[in-house]
Amino acid sequence: MREIELKVNGLRRKLGVADDELLLDVLRREFGTTSVREGCGVGACGACTALVSGKSVSTCLSRAARFDGAEITTADGLPADDEVVDEFVANRAMQCGYCIPGFVMMAHELLGENPQPTDEEVVEHLEGNICRCGTYSEIHAAIKAAATRRAAKNERATA
Ligand code: FES
Ligand code: FES
Repeated sequence: MREIELKVNGLRRKLGVADDELLLDVLRREFGTTSVREGCGVGACGACTALVSGKSVSTCLSRAARFDGAEITTADGLPADDEVVDEFVANRAMQCGYCIPGFVMMAHELLGENPQPTDEEVVEHLEGNICRCGTYSEIHAAIKAAATRRAAKNERATA
C-alpha cells in the first residue's frame, strides 16, 4: 500500500493504493468516475480510456501507483457544453453506450493534437476502440462535426 495524489476532473486527493491496483479500479472506487469502464480488461477495446495530461491511457493496463501527481480527465469531468458530447448526441453516435466514453476521450485527444482531422485520420486514431453495437460511422460523423464546431467557436473567440 502506498499513498499517492491524483487530480481527477479538477478534484485533487491523496489516497492509498495497493501496489498492483489498476488505475481503472481506483478511478471508479475513489472518484466515482463510472464513465471509465472495463470492457476487455486487456488493452484491446478502449472502453477504459482516460486522458492523463491530455494523452489517452488504457486504465485497465495501468497500475495506479505509477500515476502519482497526475492530472486525469474522464468523460464524467467534461463540461456541460462539451462539443464532442453534444455532437455524439446530435449524430446518434451510440446504441448501448457502453463504449462511448472511451470514444469521447479519444476524440478529445485527437482534436487536441489535430483540430481538423481527415476522415482517414479519425479512423486511424480510433483504431484501438471497439464498439460492439457498430456505431462507427455515426461516431466518425460526430467527431468531424465537433471539429467544425470547435473551429467556429475558436474563430468567434479570436474575432
Ligand atoms: S477495458 Fe481497457 S482496453 Fe478494454
Ligand atoms: S454503443 Fe454499444 S458498444 Fe458501442
